[in-house]
Formats: sequence, structure tokens, C-alpha cells
Amino acid sequence: MGNEHTVNKATNVTWHDGNISRSERFKALNATGATLWFTGLSASGKSTIACALEQVLVNRGVHCYRLDGDNIRMGLNKNLGFSAEDRAENIRRIGEVAKLFADSGCIALTSFISPYRADRDLCRTLHEQDQAGGIPFLEVFVDCPIEVCEERDPKGLYKKARAGQLKGFTGIDDPYEAPTKPELVLKPATMSVQDCVDACLELLAARGAIRS
Ligand code: ADX
Repeated sequence: MGNEHTVNKATNVTWHDGNISRSERFKALNATGATLWFTGLSASGKSTIACALEQVLVNRGVHCYRLDGDNIRMGLNKNLGFSAEDRAENIRRIGEVAKLFADSGCIALTSFISPYRADRDLCRTLHEQDQAGGIPFLEVFVDCPIEVCEERDPKGLYKKARAGQLKGFTGIDDPYEAPTKPELVLKPATMSVQDCVDACLELLAARGAIRS
């Protein structure tokens, strides 16, 4: 059983390899692709950290690109809402897009609530079982207590959800399933943005995606 998004309608298709391998591409471009997957509640700090990290990486000459939940939902995923099925499709598409960016030699920085473990695990599998070999998928749990997120409430959405004007809001009346084995945990309530960025840089260096 699947929903409309999981039915495979693409039949009679054949994979077409390019003339160069991924490692040849990375070598020629002096780049190493990877996906850094930020997950956490709305207003936990995912986008702020991803923006600051992007700035540091780009200034170092590292090719990276940010895929942000709200932004992607204004374009590629504008036809998806917040039901479990639509969130799953939102995350599946981003998992595929991030993998393409990473395959191209880019460090993809994704900031999506991505509240369901199974959806994130699917993205990990897409990366790890890529047919041209595994691509690093590094899950970063932006672990900020809901009280702090709610206090920040930059878009006023927690207020709306508490008032019953927004149904199915993550953390209020829709679940957030915390990662069980993330590669990194950031605690924005007690760590500065700079501390969080430094921890991400350390992880990327340890995994060989950037030079330390
Ligand atoms: S996800 O759950 O599918 O991963 P995503 O990160 O793309 O969510 O989008 C989350 C953003 O959409 C929030 O930061 C918020 O601005 C907005 N939003 C609107 N409705 C909801 C909702 N019901 N639950 C969570 N976020 C929502």
C-alpha cells in the first residue's frame, strides 16, 4: 500500500552512466560532496545555523548549497502540505535533490523539520545505497527544547497553533521523532551559533568532506 506519491509510474527507464566517475569529478573539481541534514523543531535554529555555516564554507571556497524548508516549499514543493504523506514526499524529494547536489561535488545543507524518523532514514538509505557508491549523509539534530522554540516563535506559528488556528503543527499536535543515532547533536539553547558552526565544520573535516 502506498499513497499517490509512492506509486512508481516510471516504467521502461534505463540508467545511463556518464563518461566520468564521481571520484574523477571530485578530483577534477577539488571537491567532495556530502549532505549535512539538519533536523529539529520549527524555530529550533536549523536555518540560522545552516546560513552561518554556508557563509563560512563559501568564504573558504567550499562549494556548498542550502536547501531550506520554507524556501523549497515556495517552489519545488509548493504542491505539498503538512499531512504525514505530504511531509514524507517533501522529505523524499529533498533527499533525492540533496543527493544530486552531493554527487555533483557540493556540500548540501538541508534544513527541514523532517519530523518522521522513517522519512529521514529513507534519505540516509538513498545516499548510502546510491548505485555509484555511498555518499556521506550526516544527520545533525538541532536539539532545542520546545519551550525555547515557542518563546522565540519568529513566525508566530506556535501562537497560532496554541490558539487552535493552525492544525497539525509539529511539536503541538503533530509529532517530532528525535533521531536515535545522529552524527551530531547541537543544543542551540546553550550553544552559540558560532559553536554550532564549529561543531559542523569539525564533523565535515572528520568525514573528509573539507580540509580541517
Ligand atoms: S517538514 O515537516 O515537511 O519537514 P518543512 O521543514 O518543509 O516541514 O517546513 C516547515 C515550515 O513550514 C515551518 O518552519 C513553518 O514555517 C511552516 N509550517 C506551516 N505549517 C506547518 C505545520 N503544520 N507544521 C510545521 N511547520 C509548518
